[in-house]
Amino acid sequence: MSLKPSFTAANIQAWLVSNLAELISLEAEDIDIQENLENYGLDSAQAMILVSKLEKLLGFQPSPLLLWHYPNIASLSQRLAEEFQEKSDVQDSGVERQTNIVTANIAPPILDLKAEAVLDPTIRPDALPQVFVESPKNIFLTGGTGFLGAFLIKELLQQTNADIYCLVRAADIQEGKNKLVKNLQSYAIWDEQFNSRIVPIVGDLSQPLLGIGAEQFQILATNIDTIYHSGALLNYVFPYSALKAANVLGTQEVLRLASQIKLKPVHYVSSVAIFESPVYAGKLVKEQDDFNHWEGIFLGYSQTKWVAEKLVKIARDRGLPVTIHRPPLISGDSETGICNTHDFINLMVKGCLQMGYFPDVEYMMDMSPVDYVSKAIVYLSMQKESLGKAFNLQHPQPAPLSTLIKWVKSFGYPVEAIPYEQWQAELINNVSSVDNPLYTLRPFLLERWSDEQLTIPDLYLQAKRPHISCQDTLHALAGSSIVCPPITSELFMTYTAYLIQTGFLSVA
Ligand SMILES: NC(=O)c1ccc[n+]([C@@H]2O[C@H](COP(=O)([O-])OP(=O)(O)OC[C@H]3O[C@@H](n4cnc5c(N)ncnc54)[C@H](OP(=O)(O)O)[C@@H]3O)[C@@H](O)[C@H]2O)c1
Repeated sequence: MSLKPSFTAANIQAWLVSNLAELISLEAEDIDIQENLENYGLDSAQAMILVSKLEKLLGFQPSPLLLWHYPNIASLSQRLAEEFQEKSDVQDSGVERQTNIVTANIAPPILDLKAEAVLDPTIRPDALPQVFVESPKNIFLTGGTGFLGAFLIKELLQQTNADIYCLVRAADIQEGKNKLVKNLQSYAIWDEQFNSRIVPIVGDLSQPLLGIGAEQFQILATNIDTIYHSGALLNYVFPYSALKAANVLGTQEVLRLASQIKLKPVHYVSSVAIFESPVYAGKLVKEQDDFNHWEGIFLGYSQTKWVAEKLVKIARDRGLPVTIHRPPLISGDSETGICNTHDFINLMVKGCLQMGYFPDVEYMMDMSPVDYVSKAIVYLSMQKESLGKAFNLQHPQPAPLSTLIKWVKSFGYPVEAIPYEQWQAELINNVSSVDNPLYTLRPFLLERWSDEQLTIPDLYLQAKRPHISCQDTLHALAGSSIVCPPITSELFMTYTAYLIQTGFLSVA
C-alpha cells in the first residue's frame, strides 16, 4: 500500500470533522474537536467506517486502537499526522515495511476492574423498609430508545397498567417523545392506544443524578415504584474509560435513585459478557455463581458490564431488591424477524454472504430472540422469588455456525466455509470496497488485540468460552408460557426474509 501525498494535523482534522458530521447526520459546525467521539453516539460499525475511510485517505491502515488513546478529533488528527510522517520517512529511506494490518503497536491500558467496582458509600438502601412491588403504577426505564428497550416498553405496557417514565437523551421533552415513538415504530411495535403511558424524562446516564437535576431526581425518587435499567453504550471499539460514565457511573446513579426516599426494585440488564475472563473458558457457569474473575476480559464494553453488575450486587448486599438479567447476543423478533440491522452479527453475515465465504470455525450462535429476552425479563421481574437473583437468558440450545452456513446455502446463497486463515486472506485481498460491510469491520476483525496476539474472532471461539447454564432461569420460567424459540432453519428464514424485505440483504 503506498502513502498518499502529504497530510498535516490540520487537514486530517478538517477531514475528520466533515466525515464524522456526514456519518452521524450533523453539520460540520456542530462537531467539537475536543469532544470525545463516543459522545456523538458513534457506534462500533461507524467507528470502523471512519477507520476504513482514513485508510483510503492516508494510504495506510491506522490501528483502531488509536481510538482508545486519542478519543477526540484534535488528539487523533495530531497522532495520525505524526504516524503519516513516520511512514513517509520510512518510505523515503527505502526501507521495506510490512503493511500493519495485523500489527497492534499500542497496548491497551491495564485495568484493575476489581478496584473499579466500588459503590458510592452514600447509597444506603438498608436504611429504608423492604418492598415488593406487585402492581407498579410508575416505572422508570432506561434504554427505551434502544433495541431491547423498545421490546421492554411493549411488554411492560401489556403486562402492567403503569406509566413508563423513559430516560432519553434529547434536547427537550418533545424531541425525547419523538425519539421513543420513532424507535417503537421502527420495530413495528408502536401502539397509539398506549401513547399517554410513555413519558419521556430528558437526561443522560453519564451525568450525575442522570442529568435530570436534583429537584426532578427527588420527584422521581418519590413517585417511581420500580426500575428497569437497560440503557448502556454498546460500542466494541471504545475502551473502558470512554464507556465508564454511561455504563458504570450511570448504573450507580440508577442505584442511587432506587435507594432514595423509598426503595425501588432495580431490574438490571447485564450481559453474559461478564463471564468473558479466560479463567471461565470451558467451565460451567451458573446463574447464582459468583463471577470474581475479570482478568483478561478484553473489550472495554464487557469490562463495563462486569463492573456495573458488581455495583448492582453490592447494592443488593446493602439491602436493595434487585434482579439481574444476562442476555447473550440478542437476535430479532422470532415472529416478525425484525431486528437491529446495525448489529455486529448482521453486518458479519451480510459481509460473508457478499464475499461468498464464511470462516470454518467452532463458534456457537449464542443468541436469543428479543421477544424471548424481553418477555422473560418482565415476567421474572414480577416474581417475588426472583428478588436477589441473576438469570442467564442464554439460548438453551444454541446452534453451531456450521449449521447456520448449511441453512444459508439451502436458501440458495452460494457460500462456502473455508479455513480461518484463508478467510482472513480473502478479507485482506479481495474485500476492497465499503459496499461490503466486512470492509469497514476489517481493522476490528484482523487486528491482534490481546496479550496472546489473538484477533477478536479468535477470542470468541468455542474453546475460549464458558458453558453458560440457564437451568435456574428455565426453572423460574416454567410456570409461564414463555419459551425460548428454537434456533431452526425456519427462524433463520424469518430473519432472512425481514433482512431482504428491508433491502439489507439481496435475494439469493
Ligand atoms: N444487543 C445485545 O446483543 C445485547 C447482549 C447482551 C446484553 N445487552 C444489554 O442489553 C441492554 C440493551 O441493549 P440494546 O441492544 O437495546 O442496545 P441499544 O439498541 O444500543 O440501546 C442502548 C440504549 O441505551 C441508551 N443510552 C446509551 N447511552 C446513554 C446515555 N449516556 N444516557 C442515556 N441513555 C443512553 C441509548 O440511547 P440513545 O438512543 O440516546 O443512544 C439506547 O436507548 C444493554 O444494557 C446491553 O448491554 C445487549
